[in-house]
Amino acid sequence: MTLSRRAFLSSSAAATLLPSVGLTSPQSLRAAPVVTQILAGEFAEYGATPTLGYNGTTPGPLIKVRQGQELAVTFENRTGAPSSVHWHGIRIANGMDGVPGLTQAHVEDGDDFDYRFVAPDAGTFWYHSHSRSWEQVARGLYGPLIVEEAMPPDVDADIVVIVDDWRLSETAEFIDDFGAMFHSAHAGRMGNYAKVIPSQPSVRLGDRVRLRLINTANARIFPIDIAGVEGKLVALDGMPLPEVQDFGTITLAPAQRADIIADVTEAISFGFWTGQDTYPLGEIRLEGANPMPRDTAIAPLPSNGLVEPSLVPDRRETLKMQGGAMGGAHPGEDIWSFNGLSDLPEAPWLKLAPGTTVQITLVNDTSFPHGIHLHGQHFHELDPDGNIGPLRDTTLINRQETRDILCVFDNPGKWLLHCHMLEHAATGMRTWIEVA
Ligand code: C2O
Ligand code: CU
Repeated sequence: MTLSRRAFLSSSAAATLLPSVGLTSPQSLRAAPVVTQILAGEFAEYGATPTLGYNGTTPGPLIKVRQGQELAVTFENRTGAPSSVHWHGIRIANGMDGVPGLTQAHVEDGDDFDYRFVAPDAGTFWYHSHSRSWEQVARGLYGPLIVEEAMPPDVDADIVVIVDDWRLSETAEFIDDFGAMFHSAHAGRMGNYAKVIPSQPSVRLGDRVRLRLINTANARIFPIDIAGVEGKLVALDGMPLPEVQDFGTITLAPAQRADIIADVTEAISFGFWTGQDTYPLGEIRLEGANPMPRDTAIAPLPSNGLVEPSLVPDRRETLKMQGGAMGGAHPGEDIWSFNGLSDLPEAPWLKLAPGTTVQITLVNDTSFPHGIHLHGQHFHELDPDGNIGPLRDTTLINRQETRDILCVFDNPGKWLLHCHMLEHAATGMRTWIEVA
């Protein structure tokens, strides 16, 4: 466990709230330096943190769009460094995916870029910088992106809950060890302070709420315990589960999301299970009681209607993760590699005709867990018996673990496949697939 006991541990309710813009998206997203009070509760006295944000805040504004509608946002880069915006988990038109060097050029400081795309799937997504993301995301360039169902489920409150960690000094500044070899070769750059940032501060006893959890941390895997609600897990990574599920501890790798619909039985509190203790990440207070609590069953969300994979895949491939500290030799030229190759190769790892179903065996031959993220399409996790599991855009593979995924590659373009432990991606663990 690396949260410093001496310095910062969140021990009281988060004071920060997400800015909301209702069911319209801002016309523009201006990335620029901001000063934010990250440390809450008893640590607030350490002061505010100079960081980066969108439209004056970090996390950036909650962007909400209705399923099938177009989102049009002008990105204005005023950060002092090249940047770009990636719309994580959206099955997007390739040119809008925000990956410098693959789908667009860097947006230079002082320049603008128009992002315009249709959001085909209803669910919980997020946006973040895809330039020096291991530094820019850690410094605050990210925000929630919600795509609303045509008929949203019947709830009293729809609450985004960002889960993040920060690596701060005792003067509340970022510890300037971005990109340090030590972090890259191990589990990634972990914060020493963690909390949740909910989009509203309170709920009523008896309310039915939708909680949309998003892990925006660079590298930290959060096993999260939620107290004060009784309900069901209804979606993962923006995609509805065919059947609602009971849940206990919800483990989110970096970039993963989980949606819960549940009834409030007391103040909602979020705990982070470190393997030794539970650290309080913050809470949503109780204020009053709902005079008419619902007694209806919690139903599955409507499917987004993705093409189902054929049970017999058209192709089978293996992707082996190698490298890192205590990882043994590998032929890649950087710290990490996929199939012996570090960093983005000239040619795609796979070139696939649209509609090809591929079963990929992900082999983690390293001493660290990795959250492997595919851009542009979702895939099914398969269980060890080969049964089809949930749709995801990021799958967590523990050290020395192997998992198969099944994906219908039906979105044309050049798509990144990388570890979402952002320091790992920066030091070799990324490749790309071309659908054409
Ligand atoms: Cu969330 Cu390649 O990113
Ligand atoms: Cu990794």
